[in-house]
Formats: sequence, C-alpha cells, structure tokens
Amino acid sequence: MEKESIDLIYIDPPFFSNRHYEIIWGDEAEIRSFEDRWEGGINVYIDWMKQRVIELHRVLKPTGSFYLHCDWHAGHYLKVMCDEVFGYKNLLNEIIWWYHDPAGTVRDRFKKKHDTIFFYSKKVDAHNFNLDAVRTPYKEGTVRQAKHKTISFGRITKTHPLGKVPEDVWEIPFINSQAKERLGYPTQKPEALLERIIKASSNKGDIVLDAFCGCGTALAVAGMLGRHWIGIDISPSAVALVKNRLKKIGVGEEEFDLIGMPKRVEDLRRFKPFEFQYWVVTEMHGTPAPRKSGDMGIDGLSFMEHAPIQVKQSEGVGRNVIDNFETALRRYYKEQTSNMKGYIVAFSFGKGAYEEVARVKKEGIEIELVTVQDILDKRFVLRQEVKKEIPVQEKELELWQKQE
Ligand SMILES: C[S@@+](CC[C@H](N)C(=O)[O-])C[C@H]1O[C@@H](n2cnc3c(N)ncnc32)[C@H](O)[C@@H]1O
Repeated sequence: MEKESIDLIYIDPPFFSNRHYEIIWGDEAEIRSFEDRWEGGINVYIDWMKQRVIELHRVLKPTGSFYLHCDWHAGHYLKVMCDEVFGYKNLLNEIIWWYHDPAGTVRDRFKKKHDTIFFYSKKVDAHNFNLDAVRTPYKEGTVRQAKHKTISFGRITKTHPLGKVPEDVWEIPFINSQAKERLGYPTQKPEALLERIIKASSNKGDIVLDAFCGCGTALAVAGMLGRHWIGIDISPSAVALVKNRLKKIGVGEEEFDLIGMPKRVEDLRRFKPFEFQYWVVTEMHGTPAPRKSGDMGIDGLSFMEHAPIQVKQSEGVGRNVIDNFETALRRYYKEQTSNMKGYIVAFSFGKGAYEEVARVKKEGIEIELVTVQDILDKRFVLRQEVKKEIPVQEKELELWQKQE
C-alpha cells in the first residue's frame, strides 16, 4: 500500500488472550472460530504487533488518525509500543469502552467490563477531528441550568445547540444475543462504537482501513457513512462473513475487489482444517455443521435438500471413508431406507471409493464424490443447477475401468 494514503485506521487485533474462540450460534448452528494464541509470551506478541503498527503508521496520512482497540491482556504493553512508533505526544485519548453485561460472577475482584482504545494522531495539530459530528446530549440538569443562566462553579452555564463534547469513557451496550446486527463472530464489535470513531475522525469520501476486520463491522459502518474502506483479515471464513454482511446491506460483489481468496488447489492445502471445511461448505452454498455433528462425520448440510456433506482435506480418499460415511448417513436418515443422499469432498478419490459408491447406490444411498477442483471451478454449483443426468462418479468409475 502507498505511504500516506489512508485517512483513518481502526484495528482490533487478537488480544493475547490465550484462548481459542469458538462459538456455535443461531438456527443454522454456524461455527466461527479464530485462534488467539501466542506461544512465546507477551514479547513475541508485541514484536508481531509492532511490525504491523509500523506499516500502519507508514500508510496513514499526516492528517490521519489511528485507533487501537485492546483490553487489559496486553493494553499497557501495546501503549508503550505505539508511543515508540507514533510518538508519546501523539496520543490523543485513552478511550474506555464500558459495557454493562450481567454475565460472569467473580468473588475475589471487580468485574472486568471495559475495553481500551488508544487514539493517536500521526501529527498532533494536523489531525482531522469532527467534534460536531459526535457531540452527545447534555444531562437534563445542565440544560435546565443553562435555560435559567444559573451560575455553577463560578461560570454561567452555556450549552452548545448540538450537545456536549463527549468524554473518553463511552458507555455503549455490548451486542446482545438478540441484536439485529449480531453475526455470531466472536469479538464482533457494536456498530455504534465504530460509528462514533468513523464520524469523529473521517469525512465522506475518505479511506478507512481496518487491518484485522473480523466480520467487517468497521467496513459496513464506513460504507453506510459514505466512506471508502479497505479490510484485511487472515481468516477466509471472516472474509466470507464480510461478503455476506455487505450483501445484506445492499453492497454487491461488483462494488469491491476481493484479493487473496483461494484460487488454486495449492492455496487450499495450506488452510487450517476448520477454515478448509468452512470454505468448502459455504462454496457449495451449504450450511456448516456444529462441531458435535462434525464428530459424527457430517461437516455441513447441502443447500435446499439438506443432505450431509463430509469434507476431507486429503488425496486419494478410499473405500473406508465411504464406508464410515455410509454409517453416518444411515444414522442421519434414521428410519429411512431409500433416497438417502450425501456428499464427500476431497482433493481426489481412489478407485475403491468409486466402487464403494456404486455398491451403496444399490442399497438406496447416493453418495456424490466432489473434488476440490470441481468446487474451485464452480462445476459443482453449476452441476446442481443443471441437474445432469449422469452423476460424475459413474463417469469416473468408467474411466478407472478403462484405465485398467
Ligand atoms: C478481535 S477480531 C476483530 C473483530 C472485528 N473488529 C469485528 O467487529 O468483527 C480479530 C481478527 O483478527 C484476525 N487476524 C488474526 N491474525 C491476523 C493477521 N495476521 N492478519 C490479519 N488478520 C488477523 C482474526 O482472524 C480476527 O478476525
């Protein structure tokens, strides 16, 4: 990215919390997960963050602002590191985001109910700050005093027609389980929080960058406020969520560039098992299954017909995988004795797999073997649409027999 090209940067990186986030949410029981583990301790984490903050400082315009969202896990270490990169005097605020949340009981300390957001300018007197866009209502008492020109603390109370200058402690509710904006991504931040940051520190037409964008809260809000945006995330499932989120608010895929998503089989070999599974099932337009059913050999359900999908990140899948999947299908379809259907996705299948598929077909179970290449080339989705007469595995078996 070009130097000094961005107006506002907001980042909400993994918090050094040594937890593996994973939640199962909603009717479709979707799983979202990302890892937040730092084997080598806090110094490894801070070094890792520093490399990124240096780059972010480079791409920020001299009039730009930088917001780093963190919490008690590493906040103090991050502040010292950011002071080194941005300069101590460029820290404008240490914002406390305070959220009420009845969850959790502690008996030996106070409840931890706030995050910290460090707000830096690149150049202290040059930064853009739209105070009037983020003023908040006065307390009723203040308005009353001002009306009657009351003297308080030796000064005549005067109010601004747009409201008061907000303080650095922000009380914004956490996204609750019923909230409309909730997508189920662990650590998803409320839109109201991002709205205040984006309104304060950017103008319409400016560029907002979120380099750890998760499910895209900053991007969605930036778009709604008429800003351009750039989002980065290492997790393909987060990027898939961003795509869906944008679609829901009327932003089509033709309106943004998607860079770095897998295009070749080699890219997919490098995916973590869960990311791979999630990618396969969503590309098939199916629904990822909760972990529990994954244990039963079902990683997702197909679109419309809700047939089980099993995903294998391997080559030459053989007879035994088909046999195990047959058992999983029988369990899934319970009493049913015919019209059972399922999909197995892998990089490639061996001859034994095709033979086994032909065998179970006679027993009323249709297993379709789908290669990752089929999914990458959109052949799978197209095949579903045109509903071809000859299932692919029969053709593949013919080929095997010919080869012999
Ligand atoms: C705390 S979450 C961000 C949540 C986001 N603010 C939201 O509202 O959805 C941190 C994100 O950083 C991503 N991440 C972790 N390591 C990364 C890396 N090296 N580069 C880019 N993104 C990374 C994770 O995949 C995760 O989505």
